[in-house]
Amino acid sequence: MGRQPAPPPTVSPDHTVRFLLDGEEVQCSGFAPTTTLLTWLRESRGRCGTKEGCAEGDCGACTVVVAEAVEGRIAWRSVNACIQLLATLHGKALYTVESLREPDGTLHPAQQAMIDCHASQCGFCTPGFVMSLFALYRNQSRADNDAVTDALSGNLCRCTGYRPIVDAAQRMYALPAPAEDADRRARETALYARLQALEGEADLVLAHAQGRYLAPRTLASFANCYADNPDATVLAGGTDIGLWITKHFRPLPLLLHLGRVRELAAIRQHDGALEIGAAVRLEDAFRALVAHYPDAAGLHRRFASLPIRNAGTLCGNIANGSPIGDSMPALIALGAEVVLHRAGQQRRLALEDLYLGYQQKALAAGEFVEAVRIPLPRAAGDVHFRAWKVSRRHDQDISAVFAGFALQYEDGRITRVRLAYGGMAATPRRAYATEAALLGRPFDAAALADARRALQQDFTPLSDVRASAEYRMRVAQNLLTRLQLETSGGARAASSLADLGDGGHASI
Ligand SMILES: Cc1cc2nc3c(=O)[nH]c(=O)nc-3n(C[C@H](O)[C@H](O)[C@H](O)COP(=O)(O)OP(=O)(O)OC[C@H]3O[C@@H](n4cnc5c(N)ncnc54)[C@H](O)[C@@H]3O)c2cc1C
Ligand code: FES
Ligand code: FES
Repeated sequence: MGRQPAPPPTVSPDHTVRFLLDGEEVQCSGFAPTTTLLTWLRESRGRCGTKEGCAEGDCGACTVVVAEAVEGRIAWRSVNACIQLLATLHGKALYTVESLREPDGTLHPAQQAMIDCHASQCGFCTPGFVMSLFALYRNQSRADNDAVTDALSGNLCRCTGYRPIVDAAQRMYALPAPAEDADRRARETALYARLQALEGEADLVLAHAQGRYLAPRTLASFANCYADNPDATVLAGGTDIGLWITKHFRPLPLLLHLGRVRELAAIRQHDGALEIGAAVRLEDAFRALVAHYPDAAGLHRRFASLPIRNAGTLCGNIANGSPIGDSMPALIALGAEVVLHRAGQQRRLALEDLYLGYQQKALAAGEFVEAVRIPLPRAAGDVHFRAWKVSRRHDQDISAVFAGFALQYEDGRITRVRLAYGGMAATPRRAYATEAALLGRPFDAAALADARRALQQDFTPLSDVRASAEYRMRVAQNLLTRLQLETSGGARAASSLADLGDGGHASI
């Protein structure tokens, strides 16, 4: 594909970040582009209800809610203010714990329910919990236990215990709705129009002594900007980059944000594949994936927490390319490709070929991940897909091992097999020797034994704080056993899982 010439600049760039705070327009300029939303709230606005606990997206004390105009509706997203950059708020509406009380002092049901259920002791975590509940309340008119625990997956409480907090989540729906909910539809329609007007069509350009920030509006503008400034740091959701700022104090002289590029925000289905654009948040991407591959539900649920998934992107996970990143083994197993883009030139690459070595990717200067393409099954049940995360904690933990497996059988024999692991090497990688040990055979005890042996040729894992090399290998082999039990006759699976030791237990 040839270079698409950038359209003539019809709109001159904007130099001011504009967003709504409690419905009032806020204009910000002259700040360092690495300023976090939490710093701005506490230090510039005196909104100290939003707390700082960890400053790395792990504890939820800083949870706020951001409303965005998305394809004709308002999306309400809980996010971690500690790693969300202020500049990314452009065109959005922000709500903090101070926003919730009505003018006459009546508390929001999310707040009142926390009181009624005695769901707070020291109170440090409470504003974060309230904001996660507020987002849940806005998004759903009722919530079952799974929805509640998922909504609270990014919030830690050290003293109260979670039972009363979960009770509060149910109780809030039984309380009288806030007065403003009476004409909610009309309010959201009006909010949508205001947000679109604030967003505007211009590229956003911020300059400060500590660095510059560019947030183009079109794909052509973004691509040309990156080709012209290949040393820029591409900023997507910032859930990795946020920590470079808050924990590593890394200077970032030029941030190039892709979150405003309309063309990158789409999830499309064509040519037998699901194509997920670089600006699509993890939460939306996983929902789309699970609709086609229900067995991706565990990957969805156990990837970080809801606020991280509401901010981070799937392509950011892929581009960051961590050896312990969770999505890549699953996507490699499914045969995903990345669509790479440099100044109007596109090319496609099998995802496994993107990773050349530890922190080394097959990306040219100025080239970025435009989208990921995931082949869809031709018929339901066509592909046996499994994605298993093994970590010490169920929620919000880094994988010791992640396995993504995809198998197809014909007449009882394995006709297609792709097995990929994270946490076992310097990059997410396919287990080629293990695949070869299985291909063309029935998945019987002999094939399993050969596959378990072959895995030792594929990987020499390392020991680190999360797991020893021996543990990693044993778990990785045990996941093959689990795969065999679940896909080659299945009935014995549940009872036999108890025999799997750590691999069977920790990944469930
Ligand atoms: C509390 C917490 C929990 C987490 N839990 C998990 C977890 O369970 N599993 C897991 O795998 N990860 C986890 N992460 C890591 C992180 O959330 C993911 O890697 C996320 O997908 C990154 O996406 P992002 O959009 O936020 O990327 P960013 O932080 O914006 O960028 C990450 C890197 O990718 C580059 N980049 C981003 N998009 C592109 C693109 N389109 N083209 C080229 N380069 C690009 C950036 O320049 C940067 O180098 C966690 C992070 C936190 C803070
Ligand atoms: S301060 Fe802990 S998640 Fe933000
Ligand atoms: S009430 Fe103290 S940390 Fe939750």
